[in-house]
Amino acid sequence: MQQWDVIIIGAGAAGLMCAIEAGKRGRRVLLLDNGKRVGRKILMSGGGRCNFTNMYAGPENFLSQNKHFCKSALSRYTQWDFIALVQKHAIAYHEKTLGQLFCDDSAKDIVDMLLSEAKAANVQIALQQTITGVSFADGQYTVTTAELSRQCHSLVVASGGLSLPNLGATAFGFQLAEQFGLKVLPLRAALVPLTWQPADKAVFEEISGVSLPVTAEVNGTVFPEDMLFTHRGLSGPAILQISSYWQPGDEVIVNMAPQTDVAEFLSAQQQAHPEQEVKTALAKLLPKRLVEKLLELKVFTNQPLKALNPKSIKQLADSLHAYVFKPNGTEGYRTAEVTIGGVDTDYLSSKTMEAKNQPGLYFIGEVVDVTGWLGGYNFQWAWASGWVAGQYC
Ligand code: FDA
Repeated sequence: MQQWDVIIIGAGAAGLMCAIEAGKRGRRVLLLDNGKRVGRKILMSGGGRCNFTNMYAGPENFLSQNKHFCKSALSRYTQWDFIALVQKHAIAYHEKTLGQLFCDDSAKDIVDMLLSEAKAANVQIALQQTITGVSFADGQYTVTTAELSRQCHSLVVASGGLSLPNLGATAFGFQLAEQFGLKVLPLRAALVPLTWQPADKAVFEEISGVSLPVTAEVNGTVFPEDMLFTHRGLSGPAILQISSYWQPGDEVIVNMAPQTDVAEFLSAQQQAHPEQEVKTALAKLLPKRLVEKLLELKVFTNQPLKALNPKSIKQLADSLHAYVFKPNGTEGYRTAEVTIGGVDTDYLSSKTMEAKNQPGLYFIGEVVDVTGWLGGYNFQWAWASGWVAGQYC
């Protein structure tokens, strides 16, 4: 039987950060993972460059049943703290857009940085571990694998969500929470492409690859970014963002020309080029292949602009400013970046991340019901919640 002060299950972003902080406090820390290497999601994140934080991260960028829960951790370990760590390790980075910070070279720089901090804090790491059971007695947790049992005073669950099962994602953390009497809120894939209804697929799959700047809206939440048509449905940052707010049956309202007043544009075109066809005028605003599809769908009739009257101009403008898609579903955990829902924050202390009903048991990172927007926010939550737990576990 091995004896540890702290065992952390999951060597992803949150687990690594927690291990470093607990190790710095002199705790004997063991970090366990089921994979062959640590930080696998970090390595593939941000197209291999890891969007490691966001300069504008704040509680408003997160979804949670209790929107106040994340405030404490986010304010105690901020994006500027993580940026300072990146700078300390002389990792070159840049802002891509909207405060999103990426490595100049490779996401591996972030994993190497965390590993070097973990080594300095004397954290031990055991990979390819298949945990067969966890029990609690006499103030100690026993974590059992096929090979051996290990005991600890503090058990930190950092096993992440369900997305990308082929990368080691399991429901372990949610099951463990339930085993110890914590509630798990319903789970669903988020930051995920939306899929076509069969009728839309027949029309739009032909323009797969077309992308345009839009605003995408679901139930009053709006994101301005790019939208991409794919063979399977809609993707691109605007759609990934809005997918976190989408529930089956909801419509997605897309403004295809958010920067332009289409009615004013068409009236001006009509005055300047009365003989020009509507589709030629619209192709100045939207990708040509999309305009052809809109024509096929009878969103407009192709005729000289001079044939339009103010009412028909307004109708066409309205349909482009609020085009309604009704997705069939999402691509699910196979491609989702994150899992919404998870361990109910009512059962956790926002100051320490410890379970209120179970001393010494902590939950951090994506396993908790706190989900960030696209853009570095999810890693910031992993760093912040991991850092906080690392001060107490
Ligand atoms: P994470 O999933 O990172 O780590 C959990 C660890 O636990 C894994 O190593 C897993 O193998 C291990 N584990 C699971 N079950 C286990 C078990 N039963 N036993 C032992 N170990 C177990 N976010 C962001 O802010 N910027 C970005 O650029 C991206 N990009 C991105 C791309 C892609 C493709 C994905 C899928 C996700 C992102 N994200 C992101 C989201 C981000 O990766 C995610 O929110 C964090 O990695 C969550 O960190 P955690 O440490 O909580 O879980």
